[in-house]
Amino acid sequence: MCASVSKNKTSGYKGSTDCCKNEEREGKTCVRYKCILPNSIQNVLRQRPGWVEVRDDSEWDFNWCDVGWLRENYDHLYMDEHVRINHFRNHYELTRKNLMVKNLKRYRKVLDRDIGHMEASRCDFFPCTFALPSEYHLFVEEFKRCPGSTWIMKPVAKSQGKGIFLFRKLKDIMEWKKDGARSEEQKESAQVESYVAQRYIENPYLINGRKFDLRVYILVTSYAPLKAWLYRDGFARFSSTRFSLSSIDDKYMHLTNVAVQKTAPDYDPEKGCKWQMQQLRRYLTAKHGRAAVETLFTEMDNIFVRSLRSVQKVMINDKHCFELYGYDILLDVNLKPWLIEVNASPSYTPSGQEDYEMKCRLLEDTLNVVDMEGRLTGKEKRVGGYDLMWNDGPVYREDANLETFGSSCFTANTHLGCVNDRERQLRQLLKPYPGQKRI
Ligand SMILES: Nc1ncnc2c1ncn2[C@@H]1O[C@H](COP(=O)(O)OP(=O)(O)O)[C@@H](O)[C@H]1O
Ligand SMILES: [Mg+2]
Repeated sequence: MCASVSKNKTSGYKGSTDCCKNEEREGKTCVRYKCILPNSIQNVLRQRPGWVEVRDDSEWDFNWCDVGWLRENYDHLYMDEHVRINHFRNHYELTRKNLMVKNLKRYRKVLDRDIGHMEASRCDFFPCTFALPSEYHLFVEEFKRCPGSTWIMKPVAKSQGKGIFLFRKLKDIMEWKKDGARSEEQKESAQVESYVAQRYIENPYLINGRKFDLRVYILVTSYAPLKAWLYRDGFARFSSTRFSLSSIDDKYMHLTNVAVQKTAPDYDPEKGCKWQMQQLRRYLTAKHGRAAVETLFTEMDNIFVRSLRSVQKVMINDKHCFELYGYDILLDVNLKPWLIEVNASPSYTPSGQEDYEMKCRLLEDTLNVVDMEGRLTGKEKRVGGYDLMWNDGPVYREDANLETFGSSCFTANTHLGCVNDRERQLRQLLKPYPGQKRI
């Protein structure tokens, strides 16, 4: 039976699509999905057995929408029990640059008060950041304390490097204060666009002279209790120019997410300017040894879990919602990971074949975890390339030694950058789709 979702009672309620009615008559289930995004996600949804696309205002069971659609429609939706949508109502608590830092600072304060300084210092993974214009005076104080250091200004709600610039002198901000940060609309209402001023990481880890950041995917299926999954695949994104601090105006050098110059001499059309996470993990292990790399990845787990816990209490936990976050992590030369930002709508636009395949795996496994088809028991610790990282508490590996329970050597159930043998695992795990025989 296809259950339904409709806009609130005043908006036009539409019946099932014909296609669905036919399926129902044949006694099969189907999932009606709505998706306005292009590329990989469309292809994955289209190819999923039993899933049927609906358009316009038709009813849906599953909606992969963008945050703009959510903002306009969420409050008018009535959702049946089984319906799922891919954002939490106030996702921006984590995914807007100023709010993420505000929540992290507050969480750190609470830990300091309730547990102690050591515990609070486990949140020291984001660069010193101030919200502008509101914290301008605090920022100036900090700025004057460390003369000569480099800062980065970022508009809070833009992406892909838009509006970002580096600076070392206060007068560069004065210019911005005057008019640089005002859109035509804002100029009329004399409003200044919200920015963050953040300490620039001046000593990034370089490979072949280039800076990179990491994109890691985390799926949250509930905030109360917190249930979060870490995907094994991800990638490193390289800037297209060799890094140097002598010029701070070159976006292609300092930002790792601006459009790749396809004319660059070592541009690889297959891979773009990317390395898969597995490749990076192998490279770092060969260079620094297994222990240093284990420490690095454990530190990254700490970032993922703490950032989610910092917003846990403020998130509106609607059981219909899940969220696939794209984390941006930067490594410095000491192999310390820094949290740069969390994206609510990480790009699924592929930069090459390898990237396309990775994104399809990720999206398929996201649908496997969300489990519209009811093929899981709910007790799984692994689904395809996803490992359950937090389930109202830390999740440990099955093979961990029970005697070490509670001690720091108890191993987390995370495998970022490890082998992703998802197909074999899924074959063992999942019941076949209705009408499909197990191979
Ligand atoms: N504090 C920082 N130190 C060093 N590099 C940074 C810092 N903040 C951002 N960057 C670089 O700029 C890029 C874009 O910044 P980000 O905060 O992710 O904004 P957006 O992706 O929304 O444009 C990052 O991918 C990273 O390469
Ligand atoms: Mg980013």
